[in-house]
Amino acid sequence: MGCNEEMSLNDRILQYLESVGGFDTYDFAQKIKEDHVKIVGAVKSLLAYDELVTTENRSRTLWALTPEGNEFVNEGSKEMRVFKLVPSEGLPIAQVMTQGTKIGFNKAVANGWLRVEKGIVKPSNAPTEDTVQIHLDHIFKNCSEKVSQADKDVYKKRKLIEQVIVNSLYVDKGEKFTVELQKVENDLTAEMIATGAWKDLVFKPYNYNSMGTLPEGGHLHPLLKVRAQIRQIFLEMGFTEMPTNNYVESSFWNFDALFQPQQHPAREAHDTFFLSEPALSHQFPRDYLEQVKRVHSRGGFGSQGYGYEWQEEEAQKNLLRTHTTAVSARMLYKLAKEGFRPAKYFSIDRVFRNEELDATHLAEFQQVEGVIADHNLTLGNLIGVLSEFFKKMGMDQLRFKPAYNPYTEPSMEIFSYHNGLGKWIEVGNSGVFRPEMLLPMGLPEDVNVIAWGLSLERPTMIKYGIDNIRDLVGPRVDLQMVYDNPICRLDKNGIHSMLDEEENSRRWDITVFSLLTAA
Ligand code: PHE
Repeated sequence: MGCNEEMSLNDRILQYLESVGGFDTYDFAQKIKEDHVKIVGAVKSLLAYDELVTTENRSRTLWALTPEGNEFVNEGSKEMRVFKLVPSEGLPIAQVMTQGTKIGFNKAVANGWLRVEKGIVKPSNAPTEDTVQIHLDHIFKNCSEKVSQADKDVYKKRKLIEQVIVNSLYVDKGEKFTVELQKVENDLTAEMIATGAWKDLVFKPYNYNSMGTLPEGGHLHPLLKVRAQIRQIFLEMGFTEMPTNNYVESSFWNFDALFQPQQHPAREAHDTFFLSEPALSHQFPRDYLEQVKRVHSRGGFGSQGYGYEWQEEEAQKNLLRTHTTAVSARMLYKLAKEGFRPAKYFSIDRVFRNEELDATHLAEFQQVEGVIADHNLTLGNLIGVLSEFFKKMGMDQLRFKPAYNPYTEPSMEIFSYHNGLGKWIEVGNSGVFRPEMLLPMGLPEDVNVIAWGLSLERPTMIKYGIDNIRDLVGPRVDLQMVYDNPICRLDKNGIHSMLDEEENSRRWDITVFSLLTAA
């Protein structure tokens, strides 16, 4: 229907142009009582035809009614409405005021239509007509020349009329003007090509000024953006990504291989999710398992071990991995097996902990992990690499605090000074893997492995100013947040720079995770 309507409007425009030879779209709209915007649209569509019409921009100032002016046209002027309230015997002034308007009353009195006698309003010289209403009606009908300038000034002051600028087009015949329009095609179809019909058709020219449609899909979640950024840092530093595509792990790789004793509290069901089906794993590298058993129960490689009865049944228990360090253990074992060569590994993937859920903790999160294995690495190497890594993350002042992990010695918590917040905040955990972990794997004695870990959620929440983890991950996530969050963050001090300092420190306080405390 829209199409036919446009066609007939186009035809009307061409017919009119043929008869008058040049016209203004606004005048034409008035003349045929059609919406001006529609006329302009139709004229613009005629411009698609080669030299059919020409246009020139015009602009004029017109008088238009304000909403109150419109009300006067429809219901009469306020003074007339007050006048009509008053019967010939009069009405107490208080009643006139409540039923009518003060301004209407004042005007009616000023006009001599009403007078007040001892608190009673009485009709005086009855008006013959509502001049204001009539004048405004002229303006409504675009006959403002029928109203004197003095009156217009009064109405403008009363905010009944205002001046508006109307932009219009002056339309003229083009070189190839005709009233017989040939249909223009919007699209070249397969059929037109096949039949050769395209040769005789006229195509609508490309409109290079039109805006493209906004892409609706493909918005990355903030976690994915920060993940991509961190992955990029690792790649720049020459790290290789570890295969982390197994959420289910055995206790053996998650704990035992990492020299974590079987009585360690992290191995309890309230800290770890154990699987009921399949509950156990059975395939382990036999020799290696024996070495692990030995180092736990009796020691070796210069260690006393823990001196307890190591149980294979405990190591068989399946769980949802509590850290990606389980994958690092598998990779280091593989490296030893295949013949050691220096290696740098990283991963960013999901881990699970049976945590109490609150604003900053979920039972799962993404862990970022970096591992370097080489000959004679020292704590100095670890500090150097961490400095480089965190500098690339936007944190260039670091401090280290001694910590404890069953599998690293020494172990260090990493703190970074945050300029925006003016304080030191914990950003990760790290250490040098113990010989009790590495030597049973068969790694050469002079090989050291340095490693560190952090969560992905914490920097993401801080960077994107999200203070409840459930707004970032899980079923309550507002997809509009994903849609609206910036493609590129221009961070100051690595933090959402729009937030003021107080707000910043509040967010930090509630986003401080204890995620990185050793499992
Ligand atoms: N596995 C540790 C954690 O989950 C992180 C870590 C990795 C610490 C490597 C030291 C070395 O918190």
